Amino acid sequence: MRAQRFYVTTPIYYVNDKPHIGHAYTTILADVLARYHRLFGVPTFFLTGTDEHGQKVQRAAEKAGMTPRQQADSTVIRFQELWKRIAITQDDFIRTTEARHIQVVQGILKDLYDRGEIYRAEYDGWYCIPCERFFMEKDLVDGCCPDCRRPVEKVREANYFFRMSRYQDWLIEYIETHPRFILPDYRRNETLGFLRKPLQDLCISRPKSRLSWGIELPFDPDFVCYVWFDALVNYISAIGYRRDPTFFARWWPASLHLIGKDILTTHTVYWPTMLKALDLPLPETIFAHGWWVVGQAKMSKSLGNVVNPMEMVERFGPDAFRYFLMAEMVLGQDASFTEEAFIRRYNTDLANDLGNLLSRWAKMVVSYRNGVIPWFSGPETEEDRQLRERTLAAAAVMRESVESLRLDQGLAAVVGVLREGNRYIEFRRPWELAQKGEVEALDRVLYALAEMLRIVSGLLHPILPNKMAELRRVLREEETPSRFDSLLRWGELKAGVVLARCGILFPRIVEGPKRGEGVGDMKSVTDSAEPSETGTPPQQGVMFLEYADFEKVQLRTARILEVSRIEKADKLLRLKVRMGSEERQIVAGIARHYRPDELIGKTIIVVANLKPVVLRGVESQGMLLAASSGGALRLLTVDGEIPDGSLVK
Ligand code: MSP
Repeated sequence: MRAQRFYVTTPIYYVNDKPHIGHAYTTILADVLARYHRLFGVPTFFLTGTDEHGQKVQRAAEKAGMTPRQQADSTVIRFQELWKRIAITQDDFIRTTEARHIQVVQGILKDLYDRGEIYRAEYDGWYCIPCERFFMEKDLVDGCCPDCRRPVEKVREANYFFRMSRYQDWLIEYIETHPRFILPDYRRNETLGFLRKPLQDLCISRPKSRLSWGIELPFDPDFVCYVWFDALVNYISAIGYRRDPTFFARWWPASLHLIGKDILTTHTVYWPTMLKALDLPLPETIFAHGWWVVGQAKMSKSLGNVVNPMEMVERFGPDAFRYFLMAEMVLGQDASFTEEAFIRRYNTDLANDLGNLLSRWAKMVVSYRNGVIPWFSGPETEEDRQLRERTLAAAAVMRESVESLRLDQGLAAVVGVLREGNRYIEFRRPWELAQKGEVEALDRVLYALAEMLRIVSGLLHPILPNKMAELRRVLREEETPSRFDSLLRWGELKAGVVLARCGILFPRIVEGPKRGEGVGDMKSVTDSAEPSETGTPPQQGVMFLEYADFEKVQLRTARILEVSRIEKADKLLRLKVRMGSEERQIVAGIARHYRPDELIGKTIIVVANLKPVVLRGVESQGMLLAASSGGALRLLTVDGEIPDGSLVK
């Protein structure tokens, strides 16, 4: 059965440090799922936020010489700024230090205490500070925390306990009779395994003498609430539990809690038993995803390999980052992050399969149809039929894959269609149809490709919202598709319209120096911070250069033989270059970007038929090509050996 409404959450993130790739992953995944559901027309509520109490935050604050509140206030901004930069569309952002949350937590504590679900007792056991959890002696592994394997501390103190143990049998039965409650299956088995041992009551307090940064227990001011008992409540406090019954009834129970595999027990044992004690229904699904490792190694501060999402976004752009994270991780399993894998996937799927297809198609529409997307007539060939059917099938697979949380399968189907589109061009050879004057067939091919691009841009929009909006502007379609149904139907694209200006959607990333060795030059060829050509407002009419005009420009490769500075012109260099049998002198404004000795021997690209000009008294017999971005400038060179003087086309 299809969902009637969709309430999706991420874990709330600790504000002890800035966000890393793991946080970005879950939040992007939730955003992508929320966007798909909105596209399916399902009323959607998407919640994320920050977990601001507890030992971790208090310790980080002490280290930074701040109060815990200052620590929280300065760190929460890092999360909020990142979410904005990567186009996260949360409906609410909850901070556990907000009054609306604290009141609910205290209300729950009081209620459970009054009903005897919480009691006071003397505790004697072992405490893991990083995990903020108590363990019995028998649970320790080699005397260390069974979860993180770090040393534990012996603790003896009075505390308050939640009668979690009384729900053990009920919980086991619930999990066994609700196969979609914990996903993937192997995580469900993990929880059932945990529940095979007797379940203890849960210590839900911390004496203020040891930890003061938390929500005070309403029935004992010497204690604060255990951070997990506080944090889990965010999923209901944000949607108006005990505050706004109508809103709460509209969204609870949650459709999906997305979590990482390390917080499985808290979500699949503590949280359900808390809800049961409150007489509330349980979330429909708790999905635990895998972890990002860096290469083969666990990501950790001590290894210095923590991937900073903001840095990735500044270099490669938000869409490329979103796409990589969604495409590379099979939901549930661990995935490896490397820059090489990132660039490979970007260049293959986005620059080649999608970007190239769009440019090829746009060029043909401009050359053969003066920029007007043609209507089609004439019979459908076998290839036409295949392209149509595969595109529509991919739309159905995408929908199915979102609902079954197998996003990688939907993405693979869409990328498959793009490859099919490129093959279709090779097979149908529109340039030959144009040459032979087979107008009807040509129009059908051009329309079919446009229609395929319309559907694909809609299917990928939740993952690549900025770039697909650009693509859809080219097609003169609404930037955000509003109805999924329109992606299940062929022939909806308006023909007869003039396509809008189309730049390079995904410029190829040329692998440059490694991190820290001048990262900036990769930027000039990526879709990073600056808007790309298609980011400008669409212009009326065709903004393309006629091929005949482009042909007038003669570009040639040239080898740099000598370089010297020009007196009193600190930006200019005089280059002597060889182009086949000919030698020329070129004056170029690159002195601030290259030393003369760095240039000798390079093969560059020169506009060879430019009228000579005199610059600062020196004649320049041509112009070299370079890419520039911000303050950076890099020369265009060729990718391998080729004789100087070769034509560039
Ligand atoms: N504050 C708790 C969650 C409370 S939810 C009621 C918490 N916060 S956290 O900031 O430490 O972690 C948040 C999430 O990040 C967890 O889901 C965790 O699994 C995830 N990740 C931490 N490192 C990760 C990777 N290397 N890869 C993917 N996710 C990772 O736990």
